[in-house]
Amino acid sequence: MKAKLDAIIQHDQAEYLDKLLPASDGLLAEMESYAAEHRVPIADREVALFIEITARAIKAQRALECGMAIGYSVIHLLRGMGSDGRVVTIDPSEEMIAAAEGYYSRAGLRDQVDIHKGYALEVIPQLTETFDLLFIDAVKEEYRGYLDLALPKLRVGGVVICDNLLWGGQVAGVIRSDDQKASTEALREFNQYFVTNPQLRAQVVAVGDGLGYGVKIN
Ligand SMILES: C[S@@+](CC[C@H](N)C(=O)[O-])C[C@H]1O[C@@H](n2cnc3c(N)ncnc32)[C@H](O)[C@@H]1O
Repeated sequence: MKAKLDAIIQHDQAEYLDKLLPASDGLLAEMESYAAEHRVPIADREVALFIEITARAIKAQRALECGMAIGYSVIHLLRGMGSDGRVVTIDPSEEMIAAAEGYYSRAGLRDQVDIHKGYALEVIPQLTETFDLLFIDAVKEEYRGYLDLALPKLRVGGVVICDNLLWGGQVAGVIRSDDQKASTEALREFNQYFVTNPQLRAQVVAVGDGLGYGVKIN
């Protein structure tokens, strides 16, 4: 979720691009309102759409997500994957899981989601499948750990997407408060690690709050 509309790009462009986005349908609009009201940090709409488009473009059948919240990004992924698609997603919060399950059921997608209640660093090593797409969106200080654990489970040609890599502008600018220091510094290190990872061809793009976007090349 964006810190503010123009945290990453100039205000006029941010406003223009925001207006250009297709309208969210009923369920997604409801999820956006729920997230705003309950301060749940879901992906920006353009990020969610971006991952849906990517899932569709690469014909993803299996996706792994670290950090599910209420399932906003999962619903986008599944819409891009079609009826054979399945998402394995991880979140430690009972409250988030209960809310997400309700939305999945209403979307008719409950059977296509495997929810693991727990911490991504502990759950990923237990997974035995191969994935086409990996979406990283949980604890910022742990991104490198998620990537290291999940990359061996991503097929060559599979795509990795990581949210919040510009962290409200702080990664390339001033850290706004002491409680943002550890996460910002971790993301600065992670971005270097991500774009130079020999198993990836990757970059960071100014979509939403900054998106890492990479394809596994070996
Ligand atoms: C930014 S939100 C995820 C938003 C979601 N991907 C979306 O766009 O709809 C981050 C989520 O990560 C979860 N989380 C916190 N610690 C975690 C961990 N160690 N492993 C996995 N998820 C974690 C939080 O409970 C929270 O729901």
